[in-house]
Formats: sequence, structure tokens, C-alpha cells
Amino acid sequence: MRLFIAIPLAGDIIASVRTMQQYWLTHGMQGHPTPPENLHLTLAFIGEYPDPAAVTEAIATVEFAPLTLTLDGVGSFRDTFWLGLIKTEELTACVRRIRRTLAVNNIPYDNKRFKPHITLMRKASLSTRPEKILAHPPTGTMTADKILLMRSDRGKNGMIYTPVGEIAAVNRL
Ligand code: 2AM
Repeated sequence: MRLFIAIPLAGDIIASVRTMQQYWLTHGMQGHPTPPENLHLTLAFIGEYPDPAAVTEAIATVEFAPLTLTLDGVGSFRDTFWLGLIKTEELTACVRRIRRTLAVNNIPYDNKRFKPHITLMRKASLSTRPEKILAHPPTGTMTADKILLMRSDRGKNGMIYTPVGEIAAVNRL
């Protein structure tokens, strides 16, 4: 099965993302918006791997304090538009530890440089000037207190993501 490790988003961030997507689609952008239930921040992409329990067991050894995630503007790569997040030291360190744990356990993952983002729109095209609709990206902050192992399946109407494992943040005084 196809697996990735991600942080689910807070409801108010999902709501402001929805507003942004609707605005784009009514102001000169065409494309496939990520449905609200699929919005997430990927920390590591594993790809095909048969044993989710082994992955959960491995990453359960990674202790992390609740992470502060802060939205940081909109960007694009080819025909994909995304919302960036501030690449804090605590987030980077957490990702580094997760990836190192995968490596130590011989679990494969995509070793691309971590660029924190939430994909909002795929196969996008613009019939207006980008600066006209990208000028006011949503702002917001959330606290992430869990990290999920997600399974990804191709459904009839797009990707279906299902949590298959979870690790919780450790609250320290
Ligand atoms: P993306 O949104 O930028 O495409 C599930 O596919 C998640 O894993 C998505 O968030 C996707 O990022 C991310 N991902 C990272 N590396 C990937 C890869 N090599 N192939 C597919 N998805 C990848």
C-alpha cells in the first residue's frame, strides 16, 4: 500500500483554505482543489510499503512536543498551488528525526528536501494575472499534537486518504 506521514490540519485552517480555494475558482483560476478532508502537511512520503504497523511502531519512538504551525503565504510549482508554512527549527528537527527513524528501520522514503506546504490546487491554470488573486493568502497558526501515518488510495473521484497509525505529542512542562 502507498503510505505517507502527515499532520492533519485544524478546522479553522481548513475553513480559511476553503475560502481561498473558492475565491480562486471564482476569480480566474481553473483546477482541481484539494477536498477539505484531504488537506494535510506531509512530513515524509514513504510510497509503496506493505507493513503500516511496522512503520507506526518505528515512528512511535520519536518523541515530539506539540508543534506550532504558522501559514506563510501562497506559492506554486508548475501547475500546483500550495500554502507554505514557516519552516521552524522544531518542525525541521521533528521531520529529521522521523526520517532518520525510517532509515534506521529500513523503511524507504522520498529524501527530497523538506519544504512545508499544503497542496491546495492541482492542474491549475490562470485566466487572470497571478498577483490579482494570490495577493491575500490566509494567515493562521495551529498547534499540532499528533502525527498520522496515512494510506493513500486512488478512488473513483480522486485520492482517498485514510489514517492507519498515529503518534501523539508529548506535553512537557
Ligand atoms: P504534494 O501535495 O506536494 O504532491 C500524498 O501524496 C502526499 O505526499 C502529498 O502531500 C504529496 O505532496 C506528498 N509527497 C511527497 N513526495 C511525494 C512523492 N514522491 N510522490 C507522491 N507524493 C509525494
